Amino acid sequence: MSLPITRKSDFGLIGLAVMGQNLVLNVESRGFQVSVFNRTTATTDEFVAAHSDKKLVGAHTLVDFVQSLATPRKIQIMVKAGGPVDTVIEQLIPLLDQGDIIIDGGNSLYTDTERRDAYLSEKGLRFIGAGVSGGEEGARKGPSIMPGGPLSTWDVMKPIFESISAKVDGEPCVTHIGPGGAGHYVKMIHNGIEYGDMQLICEAYNIFKSAGFTAAELGEVFSSWNSGDLESYLIQITAEIFKQIDPETGKALVDLILDTAGQKGTGKWTIMNAVENTVVISTINAAVEARILSSMKDKRVAASTELQGPTASITGEKAVLVKKVHDALFASKIISYAQGLDLIKTMGAEKNWGLDLGKIAAIWRGGCIIRARFLNDITDAYRSNPELSNLMLAPFFTKLLNEFQQNWREVVSLATLNGIPVPAFSASLGYYDSYRAAVLPANLLQAQRDFFGAHTYERTDKPRGQFFHTNWPDVIG
Ligand code: 6PG
Repeated sequence: MSLPITRKSDFGLIGLAVMGQNLVLNVESRGFQVSVFNRTTATTDEFVAAHSDKKLVGAHTLVDFVQSLATPRKIQIMVKAGGPVDTVIEQLIPLLDQGDIIIDGGNSLYTDTERRDAYLSEKGLRFIGAGVSGGEEGARKGPSIMPGGPLSTWDVMKPIFESISAKVDGEPCVTHIGPGGAGHYVKMIHNGIEYGDMQLICEAYNIFKSAGFTAAELGEVFSSWNSGDLESYLIQITAEIFKQIDPETGKALVDLILDTAGQKGTGKWTIMNAVENTVVISTINAAVEARILSSMKDKRVAASTELQGPTASITGEKAVLVKKVHDALFASKIISYAQGLDLIKTMGAEKNWGLDLGKIAAIWRGGCIIRARFLNDITDAYRSNPELSNLMLAPFFTKLLNEFQQNWREVVSLATLNGIPVPAFSASLGYYDSYRAAVLPANLLQAQRDFFGAHTYERTDKPRGQFFHTNWPDVIG
């Protein structure tokens, strides 16, 4: 039975794919009336019919959709990032009134968001680029939302965003991130960190697999980790994945899934931005590259019989290995977040976005894919020292890294000696050892630069800022 709709809707959503549908149901469940529009009309009709007990208005045309909304209109677009977002915006512009708000809730590139923000504000329309994380379930029950745009527009959207978002200790997992593209930027880094987390888990899995752990045993290991300091959504779903049996063969499903990873682009965007900002995010970099290497299945299969390496043979007490890999994983994870947050801090300062890392960490504690117990500790670290230069140097994390570093080294060594690729574990350890090195071999590098290009160097026995050049021997003859 359809409810009689007698008033204009509080919120509108365009794009009824899975995320869009779940967000609509979430918004409606908080007491708002929602209008929906989808390019394929049948999808709209089916969706509204399937939820006829809810306060939904299905529109067949954009004109009807826009007319069904109370002003200032609040319209969220949930379509594929890129061209489709521009297409929908162009279709909406002539139908909207000054002050209406368009929210792009997809994984848009932050520079696209900045362009759209400027374009729409010239037309008197308001725009919010909001990263939304949490997948289908998060969208329905409470995602983490990262909105960027003018503060005045955030104030209008706040009641809806706060009511639909996940909550941790009563705090909504949404905050005004900053102006312009700041929201989509922070979502992009969230995704880069997500790539890092996933790759680190996969490397732990690979070591365990080489040590003879079955999928069932791995289910137990990850379940136990999820009851401890590594507790997180990704560890939790990994435990469930190991327990999943393929109904067709009776085998563990994970063992039947082809080892080639996909990616839609946010990880690549993250590393491109890190290079532009001269910030090291080697763990995320390794994670993106690991996906690329995984996708080269045929080349890897061909090389596997040509290029030599040891046959993995990991013996010893399984419980001991579990503890060591735990420490390596946790330490690497701290590094990955330290790098991602460093990039956010650097970019935020560059763009004058006024980002608050404590608030960003706080809204990642719930709803999103990277939600994890240790985000409470990250939040605390930035709340007690907003100027923290690097997460590794927050006392809580320094202590953990000092405690884990020996096992971390042993795991990287063990994997390397056994020919098991651990690019993200070792990139993280390399970052840790480089960052804590009072002296690096860059003296030699500077000499090389001065040798071939007269690029000059500073000296250890002279004040900083004085540059020297040596007339090196002529090697060409
Ligand atoms: C989220 C996810 C979601 C999606 C990404 C990653 O926060 O809900 O990050 O946005 O999983 O697009 O996708 P790829 O792994 O395909 O790049």
